[in-house]
Amino acid sequence: MGKNFSIATVSLLLLLTSTNAGQVFDVKSYGAQTNGDITQALTQAWKAACAVAGSKVVISTGTYKLGLVTLLGPCKGSIEFNLQGTLQAPSDIESFKGKDGWVVFERIDNLTVSGGGVFDGQGQLAWQKNNCAKKYNCDILPINIRFNFITNSIVQDITSKDSKFFHINLLECKNLQFQHVTITAPGDSPNTDGIHMGRSSQINITNANIGTCDDCISIGDGTQDITIKQLTCGPGHGISIGSLGRYQNEQPVSGIRVIGATLSNTNNGVRIKTWPASPSGTASDIHFENVIMDNVGNPVLIDQNYCPNNQCSNELQEHYRNFFNIGSCEVCLQ
Ligand SMILES: *[C@@H]1O[C@H](CO)[C@@H](O)[C@H](O)[C@H]1NC(C)=O
Ligand SMILES: *[C@@H]1O[C@H](CO)[C@@H](O)[C@H](O)[C@H]1NC(C)=O
Repeated sequence: MGKNFSIATVSLLLLLTSTNAGQVFDVKSYGAQTNGDITQALTQAWKAACAVAGSKVVISTGTYKLGLVTLLGPCKGSIEFNLQGTLQAPSDIESFKGKDGWVVFERIDNLTVSGGGVFDGQGQLAWQKNNCAKKYNCDILPINIRFNFITNSIVQDITSKDSKFFHINLLECKNLQFQHVTITAPGDSPNTDGIHMGRSSQINITNANIGTCDDCISIGDGTQDITIKQLTCGPGHGISIGSLGRYQNEQPVSGIRVIGATLSNTNNGVRIKTWPASPSGTASDIHFENVIMDNVGNPVLIDQNYCPNNQCSNELQEHYRNFFNIGSCEVCLQ
């Protein structure tokens, strides 16, 4: 009787495990320890998880050091990156060797990033070295989290903090949802834009809370069908379409809906900015609805002569494009 019971319990447990979201790859099983460097452990856990459909990489609570990583797909099936702890980037920029991202998610379909954890870019030293407003050949600074070619995915309940440069960048993403994402950096940290996107479509950002020293959200060329709801923004530069018109053959921006936002202590509210003498291009079907502004410098601004720091020569634009390869956006400017 007792024996039968325990066999039944064991098979029930097995059943529960196998119907669970899938296989769990805890970085601790790959040698990760709190306060240690988990670059290698995460790289190995990701590789193993990516080879299995419906898998989950877990980084449990605690603080960990992490070097530059590219979490590359395509994976066998859906994959979750569950960060419960805090990841700390190297604080010196030398260890990035000129690379433009810290944690890079690339070519993944059906990715979930979740867990309530923190990506801490430890930008304090880098901000002091940001000479982009003054110097033509300025140093490249890494973006906290990059999403390159990500489709049908969700990013929820995570925090990006003190990035050395932009916090989150989307390039060629489609059908990506952001929910309850928090982004913070001091009001005097240069170029710490919240979320920038280019050449992307079907992006929804709901309940984000963003306060930095640059645009809370900026939307570059080739971007369509974007819905931003219940955004809290400030301090920073507000919400921007653009900058646009810096390069030849930029793709149109259309279908942008900002529905419900509160902007506080920002130097601009909602803005569309294009460069002087820009080649023809279009930005259309743009809606800003129910936007509350509290202590905002220019609440609504359409600037077709955008030229921060007088840096709008063609050579300089080309330089930025080659350097950062992140589409048309406000790089190293303002
Ligand atoms: C992602 O994968 C899950 C389970 O593997 C599946 O149920 C879901 O439909 C997929 N979502 C998308 C958008 O492909
Ligand atoms: C994104 O927002 C649009 C507009 O509100 C909505 O139609 C669409 O269903 C949303 N997508 C997802 C996956 O929630």
